[in-house]
Order: sequence, then C-alpha cells, then structure tokens
Amino acid sequence: MTDASARPDLPGPGAPYAERYATFGPDFFRRFDDADDTRFYDQPRLVTHIDDRAIAAVGAVYADLGLGPQGRVLDVMSSWISHFRQTPAGLVVLGMNPVELAANPQAAGAVVADLNRSPTIPFADGSFDAVTCCVSVDYLVQPLEVFDEVARVLAPGGVFCCTFSNRCFPSKAIHGWLQTDDRGHVAIVARYFRLTGPWGEARASLATPPGTPGDPLYAVWAARA
Ligand SMILES: C[S@@+](CC[C@H](N)C(=O)[O-])C[C@H]1O[C@@H](n2cnc3c(N)ncnc32)[C@H](O)[C@@H]1O
Repeated sequence: MTDASARPDLPGPGAPYAERYATFGPDFFRRFDDADDTRFYDQPRLVTHIDDRAIAAVGAVYADLGLGPQGRVLDVMSSWISHFRQTPAGLVVLGMNPVELAANPQAAGAVVADLNRSPTIPFADGSFDAVTCCVSVDYLVQPLEVFDEVARVLAPGGVFCCTFSNRCFPSKAIHGWLQTDDRGHVAIVARYFRLTGPWGEARASLATPPGTPGDPLYAVWAARA
C-alpha cells in the first residue's frame, strides 16, 4: 500500500472547480461517445466486467477495509453485482439501469441516477459509513463534483473505495484514462481524492497477484476526514 495522493502543488478542495480541473490536460474528460449516457446504458447488461479472480479481489479489498456487513453502504455506478463477501445490511445501489439494479441480490435499495448529467447524490449529509465504486470511475466526466458529493454523504471516518482493472467500454471512458496505463489510472483516482474532500490520505494497492495472467484489480481509497 502506498500514499497515492501526496502532491503539494495541487489546488485544495476549496478551490473553484475551474482551477481544480485546470490541473488536467485539455480534452482529458472528453469521450469518443459524449452522447447522453442513457442511450448507452438503456439495455441491461447482466454480465461480469472482470474475471472471477478480480471479482474475488474486490470482495477481499472490501473485507480488509471492514466495509459491511453492519454499515450503511452506497455502491455507486452499480449494476446487478456488488462483490461484497458479506452483504451490508443496508446496501443502496446507484446506477443507470433499473433492470440491472433490481437484479442485485445484495441491494436493499436502488436509485437510478446519471452522475454525468447531474453529479449529485440524492442523500442527506453523513448518510453512509462507506461508498464503493467498482470498475466505473473512468466513465465520470465530472469526477470532482462526484467525489465531493461522496464526501458529503459519508459520515466522518467513512471510506470511499474505488476499484478498477484495465478493461472498459472505450467509447464511454474519458480520454485521460484511455491515454495512460495502470499506474496512471491509480494516479488519476488519487488526484481526484487530492482535489476533493475533505479526505485523509489516499491509499492504493494492487489486489491481485502481480505478474499473473488475468485481470489486475487495483484499489484506491480514502477515509472522509
Ligand atoms: C462496467 S459497469 C460496472 C458495474 C458494476 N459496478 C460492477 O462492478 O460490475 C459500469 C456501470 O457504471 C454505471 N454508470 C455508467 N455511467 C454512469 C453515469 N453517468 N451515472 C451513473 N452510473 C453510471 C452503469 O450503470 C454501469 O452499470
């Protein structure tokens, strides 16, 4: 595990969004398919997006961080699978497709919301003890607003954990993500934490054995200060 967020030269969370976004290159948040996400996610995809070993690694990361089974947990950019080894009692899933969310056996509640159309999370301050986002952070075009919203809905000390691999829907991933590698992806998510919050130190790990075949699984997380 490493402290992935140490960049004293970046503007702080209180800075205007324009100033914070200016730390990324031009077109960083453009996508090949910049059309309304509703069109792309209209059809349910009841599939897995990473292999079984990477899925197990997500569950292991959550367990190591102590996420669930008691806490109030929100899984954003969710689908029919949330990967918890032990189901959190009050798991709420938020995503684009109502059929996928309704099929999620671990969910106690579901919210259909497009975080690219409106980067707000429709819950009161401090509503959750943990928030997760699995293999989806690369689709956010206003990630700083979303990370700030996650901080708002988390109780102090609550963890936001983003996990990802090296696969994606390339037409819907931001250019900045497509133009770099695994190490760069960790740095991007760590920078989102650094520019939003308030968060404690962002930490990162490779949760699958290095150098082995199959999908790698990375995690970047921080606790709300
Ligand atoms: C690759 S799938 C991952 C689903 C799930 N998290 C998993 O681990 O299998 C990407 C998910 O991100 C969600 N998503 C994509 N764009 C979104 C947006 N603009 N707002 C909210 N959710 C979005 C979709 O609903 C889709 O289920």
